Amino acid sequence: MNLGLHSKRIMVTGGNSGIGKSIVMRFIEEGARVVINYHSHPEFAKSLVSAIGEKGGTAIAIEADVSDPEAVQAMFKQVEDQWGGIDILINNAGIDGPRAMSWDADFTKWRKVIEVNLFGSFLCAQAALKQMIHQKSGVILNLSSVHELIAWSGYSAYASSKAAVGMLTKTLAQEAAPYGVRVLALAPGAVKTPINKNVWSDEEGLRDLLQKIPLNRVGNVDEVAKMAAVLVSDVASYVTGTTVYVDGGMTDYADFAQGG
Ligand code: BGC
Repeated sequence: MNLGLHSKRIMVTGGNSGIGKSIVMRFIEEGARVVINYHSHPEFAKSLVSAIGEKGGTAIAIEADVSDPEAVQAMFKQVEDQWGGIDILINNAGIDGPRAMSWDADFTKWRKVIEVNLFGSFLCAQAALKQMIHQKSGVILNLSSVHELIAWSGYSAYASSKAAVGMLTKTLAQEAAPYGVRVLALAPGAVKTPINKNVWSDEEGLRDLLQKIPLNRVGNVDEVAKMAAVLVSDVASYVTGTTVYVDGGMTDYADFAQGG
């Protein structure tokens, strides 16, 4: 794809694994320069940076907990010093937390999900917008989930955080639009990554999952990454303040294919 992303400065939070890593590699293919933010597994980030270097691409890895305001400030300062800022932010870092009914949930763990998924997206967007509204250009893409819409028993923090990310997206888009800055969200469904390995690697779990997906298969990370690249490019220059679902039809409620 030639999406006009060559030389763009792109930050991907949680860029060292899963969907984030695939988005990083897609942008490298497009000739962009990428900041790979990570919090755990520094070895994944380092090997990704050297693999990109070997392909002739440009990437730097920066450790920061996106839910920590000071760490986010320091990360954006480092990028500003090195590259003069960014053109595109992908708020991808996220966790789902342990499965627990609300009455059994450990509040510290529950809160951590909200802190990473919602506060982290806000803090990085805030730092990026300070610069983007000044430069009068930029795009922020927040990774949401089908659970922005679909309730998910045992994951009340995750589903709540994603619903909030949807509204954060709309509100920031309204604020930023007068400055020519777009803010939108991409919501994947069941995509094969480490976060849901326990489901797709289990025969019964997979059978149950496939019944919920009209296209009858789990998505792959590149299908999400391609759409992320399109949405932040000028191909989508008139798209802002909305969530785009990449879910094989999961939000089309497959259970209703036969009767109601
Ligand atoms: C979750 C996955 C889950 C999918 C569909 C995603 O947001 O991260 O674990 O398989 O939603 O339920």
